[in-house]
Amino acid sequence: MEIGQLVVACDLGSTTFRVLVTSVQPEGLRILGAGTADAAGFRDGDFIDLSSGSRALQRAVEMAESQADVDITGFYYSVAGSHLHSFWARSQLQLGAERRALTEADVEMVMGRAHSISIPFDHAILVANPVGFTVDGIGGIIDPVGRLGSHLEVEAHLITGSGTVQQNLEEAFGRIKLEPAGWCVDILAAASVLLSDQEKEQGAVLVDMGGAATQWVLFRNGEIAGFGLVPLGGKHLTDDLSHGLKVPVPDAEAIKRSRGVVLRSLVEAVDPEVLFTEEQPTESPGLIATILEPRLEEIFAMVKKDIGSGLKTGELRTGIILTGGGIRCEGTDELAEEVFQLPVETRLFPSGVRGADRLSDGQWATALGLAAWASADALPTYRREAPDSTSRRLPGILRRLWGRK
Ligand SMILES: Nc1ncnc2c1ncn2[C@@H]1O[C@H](COP(=O)(O)OP(=O)(O)OP(=O)(O)O)[C@@H](O)[C@H]1O
Ligand SMILES: [Mg+2]
Repeated sequence: MEIGQLVVACDLGSTTFRVLVTSVQPEGLRILGAGTADAAGFRDGDFIDLSSGSRALQRAVEMAESQADVDITGFYYSVAGSHLHSFWARSQLQLGAERRALTEADVEMVMGRAHSISIPFDHAILVANPVGFTVDGIGGIIDPVGRLGSHLEVEAHLITGSGTVQQNLEEAFGRIKLEPAGWCVDILAAASVLLSDQEKEQGAVLVDMGGAATQWVLFRNGEIAGFGLVPLGGKHLTDDLSHGLKVPVPDAEAIKRSRGVVLRSLVEAVDPEVLFTEEQPTESPGLIATILEPRLEEIFAMVKKDIGSGLKTGELRTGIILTGGGIRCEGTDELAEEVFQLPVETRLFPSGVRGADRLSDGQWATALGLAAWASADALPTYRREAPDSTSRRLPGILRRLWGRK
């Protein structure tokens, strides 16, 4: 993209819509303004109420317009939700009787074959990542181009998404006259600015605990090697606190944000029996931790189970990186270390981004990642027609996604 060009990104989060206006500068993106709105009418990555959802989105857009002093006519947006599915595909290519140097075209062809696996009705392949190649029986090859061989195999990780959901998102944007410019899977956008290439090479899992869900993505040898979502997030911690302390949900949310602690060993112990009486319990750090710890432990245990064998390979030298609003209670990283038995670090936003002081409190990494990817011309541009399982125009788009290092 040209210097000075504006890039607008919209993170459609399960609790908050976040619109970020950035400008492409020689030293990187500069943040010009931002806007937020509660994610009304939006659930599990989809608008369940188009009227209230598009109005909420408009509020976030207007706030960003006024802060950045620009007119927004369209944006890049994030795609998330349980409609996204993760698949493994294997495909092979016989190159001929004679061995010869493998080319980019061979790699594209074998990847194209990996796309032909059967995927759910109404789904399109959104992301395809070659995790490893095998040339003439020798496996574990990261880049086969230039190598001599006669038989090429690839193991690829694919993410598919629902065309109906994407159409519905487009409908909401259309109602407020916004043009979709392109999209990216939510957590991949966040990963692009929170994890370095070296960390992805060394093996890492990014866990994004948002409001209604916790997403994760696993990188091995620099490539996506697993992806998933658990339908529990920070909202469930708040609900438990509201129930346990016998206070309304907004009060529980305020207590969690100001005094939330998720590890009983960090605070003075209380007898959990007080939670099972009719009386109003006395709020204390010990009681808050007694309520929150089991829930967060459950969420991390579910993520661990979902990742499955990806964690057992011993190839995660970077470890676990936690992000998202849901990880901000005291003791979260220690609890995660106990559950995952791996090094854990928390990261909300990359350092050194110019204009970041304009941002309100919250998880802006997804929106920034979207803008960064778009400014590098690495996002699939928007297609007017809904994606469907018969569409095989996708490889060109995917090549750009996977070609980005
Ligand atoms: N300071 C804080 N302490 C504890 N929890 C917090 C804090 N700030 C926000 N949260 C929690 O973070 C959650 C929202 O996280 P986030 O903003 O990352 O979600 P989202 O991007 O809207 O959703 P998702 O990523 O799941 O689509 C809420 O449950 C909120 O209670
Ligand atoms: Mg989010």
